[in-house]
Amino acid sequence: MHDPPLRVRFDQWVDYCLYDPGIGFYRAGHGRSGRRGDFLTSPEVGPLFGAVLARALDHWWDELGQPGRFPVVDAGSGPGTLLKALEVAAPRCAAAWTLRAADVAPGMTPDLGDVAGGVVLANELLDNLPFRVLVPVSAAGPALDRRLRFDEVFVDRVDIDASAVEVLVPTTWVPVRWVPVQRVPPLLADRSVDGRFPVVETASAWVAAALDRGPARLVAFDYGTQTTVELSARGGWLRTYRRHERGADPYRQPGRWDITTDVPFDQLPSPTRLETQAAFLDRFGIHELVEEGRAIWRQKAARPDLHAMRMRSRVSEADALLDPDGLGGWLVATWEVDQ
Ligand SMILES: C[S@@+](CC[C@H](N)C(=O)[O-])C[C@H]1O[C@@H](n2cnc3c(N)ncnc32)[C@H](O)[C@@H]1O
Repeated sequence: MHDPPLRVRFDQWVDYCLYDPGIGFYRAGHGRSGRRGDFLTSPEVGPLFGAVLARALDHWWDELGQPGRFPVVDAGSGPGTLLKALEVAAPRCAAAWTLRAADVAPGMTPDLGDVAGGVVLANELLDNLPFRVLVPVSAAGPALDRRLRFDEVFVDRVDIDASAVEVLVPTTWVPVRWVPVQRVPPLLADRSVDGRFPVVETASAWVAAALDRGPARLVAFDYGTQTTVELSARGGWLRTYRRHERGADPYRQPGRWDITTDVPFDQLPSPTRLETQAAFLDRFGIHELVEEGRAIWRQKAARPDLHAMRMRSRVSEADALLDPDGLGGWLVATWEVDQ
């Protein structure tokens, strides 16, 4: 006999699949970013991303008047590759920084601790926080009566181990300010896209809570779009990953697949600056670092040592980090908080 279906809202389903202590992708040891893991993030491309961020940290430290106490926290640090690259890069501000990682991974604490006056970094954290899903529904009837309604996605467990099915439940829940109600009906004309979109209220609350702790800078890197409308029109924003392979169905094999969403940045507290990753890395000197790498490689090409090889690999790392159709096209939101 089967257990009766258990209905949960989509964000609770994501929370279960990713963070349940028993089966969660990030709790039960399945989710490891890195070359041998399930996806390749910017820090995992190589040390260049950390080297550029080290320059960014120096820039912010200078802007803040080189404080003697400079907490730097990598939130959602995963295996901690970014922190290692920052340590190796050894920027000037290392004289004052305390470097820490915060993650929900076993043995770690997601608590950001004391970040007052410092910097919180979050690479690919926000896409991984549980999200709700709404589907716009145009009411039938005379044109004048047409009002936009929403269904919300819920999930019925039909089998205790394996599968689940999506259930659409009409909702009277009024989506928050960014929902462009007047612009959604035309999108529905394209039947290949049902106009559904993620509601990233957990990510939004995470940003607000992090800002409440008074860091001077909060910097979030993620895939996504500036507006919810873009995501809704484009579709394809729900991603599942395992071993670099993109899956399709978030209801299969819970805990075995990463489930993420492209982030609609307009649902987050308004950042001071929103730019592409390519623009951010350019601003903080990636091209100079690549040129430096080339020069060192040329000097040592006849008898290359490990350092020279690392310098040469900056060229291909930069290609990946700046790729407009890949990591370079991702967005970077910076919140600057008056101190
Ligand atoms: C996609 S991984 C990114 C890892 C790393 N930043 C990188 O770029 O390689 C997302 C990480 O966020 C962590 N995470 C999820 N919820 C969190 C929370 N509330 N606070 C801190 N970390 C969290 C997960 O455990 C996971 O390690």
